[in-house]
Amino acid sequence: MHTKNSLKYQVDPGGHLTGTLRVPGDKSISHRSIMLGSLADGVTEVTGFLEGDDSLATLNAFRAMGVEIEGPEAGRVSIHGVGMHGLQSPDGPLDLGNSGTSMRLLCGLLAGQGLQITLTGDSSLSGRPMGRVIDPLTQMGAVIGATESGTAPLVISPNREMKGIDYALPMASAQVKSAVLLAGLYAEGETRVTEPAPTRDHTERMLEGFGYSVERQGSRVSLVGGGSLKACRIDVPADISSAAFFLVGASIASGSELLLHHVGINPTRDGVISILRLMGGDIEIENEQVVGGETVADIRVRSSQLHGIDIPEALVPLAIDEFPAIFIAAACADGVTRLTGAEELRVKESDRIQVMADGLKVLGIDASPTQDGIVIQGGSLTGGCVESHGDHRIAMSFAMAALRASGRVEILDCANVNTSFPGFVRLASQSGLSIQQSEAG
Ligand code: S3P
Repeated sequence: MHTKNSLKYQVDPGGHLTGTLRVPGDKSISHRSIMLGSLADGVTEVTGFLEGDDSLATLNAFRAMGVEIEGPEAGRVSIHGVGMHGLQSPDGPLDLGNSGTSMRLLCGLLAGQGLQITLTGDSSLSGRPMGRVIDPLTQMGAVIGATESGTAPLVISPNREMKGIDYALPMASAQVKSAVLLAGLYAEGETRVTEPAPTRDHTERMLEGFGYSVERQGSRVSLVGGGSLKACRIDVPADISSAAFFLVGASIASGSELLLHHVGINPTRDGVISILRLMGGDIEIENEQVVGGETVADIRVRSSQLHGIDIPEALVPLAIDEFPAIFIAAACADGVTRLTGAEELRVKESDRIQVMADGLKVLGIDASPTQDGIVIQGGSLTGGCVESHGDHRIAMSFAMAALRASGRVEILDCANVNTSFPGFVRLASQSGLSIQQSEAG
């Protein structure tokens, strides 16, 4: 087990990516499979589950609340659901590590359980805003304590008196939408959420897969509390957010061609494909099919000369986790790339606008952060030593940057890559990246 700060990557410059690979399972879908499977009647069988620290934090939280869960073994998990009211008080606080999705969705799911539960996390998660879920949940009747600045640890007090609300999301956030909908399962009457722009809809799709009726009308989603969930089978596709590093790596490194297998291309998640295509990327979708309510496909990507663009704001929520990788594409593109309307990037696992700008500057790229985005002038990357601030997606993005750098790229504080992409170093080196990891001295 690598302790925080202890792991660094060293990536030799140049090379290209070839072959076929399957990246690990979708993180968002893996979290939700454990949550809904635990509340269902019957045994839910999951395949393709992401065995990363984040989804395992969710799995361990439900075990601590008395749910019997077998696995994970080679991506297989069997969840013996306890029904909507079968969760038990855990012995101590639930430690959710680095995982914002676990904390925000659990707030909603636990708000109406009638249990006293404390949620904690690591230093990054303890600095992230939780008021965005506490506010609507409080309107529904929940009692949730936080620090003065609205951060974890969070203390959820016993309560069974939740009421449905009609909530207009102040920001495009699938986590907030999902927290309110999960609380709505326990609320009296109807719970409605309206979003300012489409965000990932895995919660809605999976609730339907578990037999719960969800109404969707334009930007509004609603459900009526008091129903139950029926166990089902869930096939978790490969995570497009993990595929994104390879989409960018193969696009920027000449002579590359990769086939990425069985990737989830839900239309609320495919912004990275649209953005790379707008930049001149050569990406083909093959074998498209719908599996368990989610669209999956094989993605073929070949290298191409990218050019800078003004990223359409409508694509921002559809690619929200992929911007660190997209910024590397922009650094290798001809001309200027401008991102606006993306202030949410400042409250992810790190401040992804500042941390990426700092790292790009180390590698000789002109990158100017703005309050809600960044302006990147494409150029030639040098080698250098980059700080990832313990952010998994920053670490993997800079690893791919080495494909176009003139010297070795070192990346510090990479242990958290395990939150979403266990096996990244192995898969990346099999595909052609000259990457090694070592304990930082
Ligand atoms: C997620 C939603 C997004 C995303 C996160 C996973 C989810 O967060 O960044 O990695 O599974 O619902 P926001 O809802 O904060 O945008």
